[in-house]
Amino acid sequence: MRRTPIVDALQAEEATKEIKICGWVRTRRDAKGFSFLEMNDGSCLKNLQAIVDESVPTYEIIKDVTTGAAVEVLGELVPSPGKGQKWEVRATELKLLGTADADDFPLQKKRHSDEFLRQIAHLRPRTNKYGATFRIRSEASFAIHNFYRDKGFFNVHTPILTGSDCEGAGEMFRVSTLPATGVEAPKEGSVFDNDFFGREANLTVSGQLEAELLAMGLGKVYTFGPTFRAENSNTPRHAAEFWMIEPEVAFADNEDNMDLAEEMTKYVVKHILDNCADDIELFAKFVDKELMGRLENIINEPFARVSYTEAVELLSAAKKKWEFPVEWGIDLQTEHERYLAEEHFKKPVIVYDYPKDIKAFYMRMNDDGKTVAAMDVLVPRIGELIGGSQREERMDVLLERINEMGQNPEDYWWYTDLRRFGSVPHAGFGMGFERLLMLVTGISNIRDVIPFPRTPQHIEF
Ligand code: 4AD
Ligand code: MG
Repeated sequence: MRRTPIVDALQAEEATKEIKICGWVRTRRDAKGFSFLEMNDGSCLKNLQAIVDESVPTYEIIKDVTTGAAVEVLGELVPSPGKGQKWEVRATELKLLGTADADDFPLQKKRHSDEFLRQIAHLRPRTNKYGATFRIRSEASFAIHNFYRDKGFFNVHTPILTGSDCEGAGEMFRVSTLPATGVEAPKEGSVFDNDFFGREANLTVSGQLEAELLAMGLGKVYTFGPTFRAENSNTPRHAAEFWMIEPEVAFADNEDNMDLAEEMTKYVVKHILDNCADDIELFAKFVDKELMGRLENIINEPFARVSYTEAVELLSAAKKKWEFPVEWGIDLQTEHERYLAEEHFKKPVIVYDYPKDIKAFYMRMNDDGKTVAAMDVLVPRIGELIGGSQREERMDVLLERINEMGQNPEDYWWYTDLRRFGSVPHAGFGMGFERLLMLVTGISNIRDVIPFPRTPQHIEF
């Protein structure tokens, strides 16, 4: 007999004579002559209760059916007299699939701290909160693919191993097959001549440059994959390995880019509210009391839009003591971003036209010669959710910018080549998937929306 997932059993239309449920025991309560088992199989937040009577042939094993143990229950699905549950299972057979020693099993029915659960990341998917988090993560990923597919975008797979440094940031993880010690550079040349690729290789920080190449043939594309940054910033918003959604659109400007970013954010939030109601309710109740209001606001209100120059004026006028002083030309810090979204606009805000000196070489130069057609989406509690721009499509301006940034145009010959052959205005952005999940769940630490987070000094599991 096939097992029925608990999510399906709970939605049954009618009672069923025979049903098989498999799951992990959350609790067992014994009464005279029978026991209640609360089972969860991860298919949904809710548990299913089984009643195991002493007449069940294997009833003597019930003492080993402790919290965390895995069981298989065969029985009848009947209406439950208990409140808050429509159905329960009256067991006819009980099998213990895997024990969980009560003295050792670390998850108990009380609430554990996030810090503690991070140390047992191999077991935390079995808690209500992390089960909900990872179900929402799955659903959000699906929603993103759905959004782009509906809009006629093509999903492209950009490389994870790269020979170029997209942002020129120099915070990359090197990939090498050379031994850790004793490798000498040849007389003329570099140590990497003998490495696997014959040159220095790294894990990608962004799929953007390759996505641009594909957009110039396919029109509208997006890549959604893992990216890696070796920045040593131990913040609740940075991970060394995170996933990014990067659309890239030909024949589009920065206005179109902002519209797409706003539409996509709203779409995913709405999809999660519509499809993950139980899981979201858990976060609204126990993690962030203001979550629902914030999410409704994201869906229903247009995002604010201000230029960087206006943003700096707002920040300068704010009665705030900034850790990082505000003046035109500074890169906005999290405290500034959060003030704008959280306190000033009280909703997401898109800041556009940033000073050229704090942005990457590929962003399109504006006519003022001082700013580029960049845009960042800033959201309450988190700050930067999305960063993107219109791309520089003019060869002469692009070359000038690459040189200005102290980079070598030859390293980007294939990127600049696109500006020689059928160059068109185009734009794109990158959304941090984990930051989106933090926004949707109210979880405040990025380590808790990634099953197995990688941060400085942490690569367990
Ligand atoms: O602003 P970033 O660095 O932009 C790019 O990489 C562009 N090449 C994207 C593009 O235009 N195609 O990163 C984009 C987003 C940020 O807004 C942030 O949400 C997220 O990626 N992000 C991180 N998320 C978690 N941990 C980190 N260390 C992150 N760094 C960036
Ligand atoms: Mg950015």
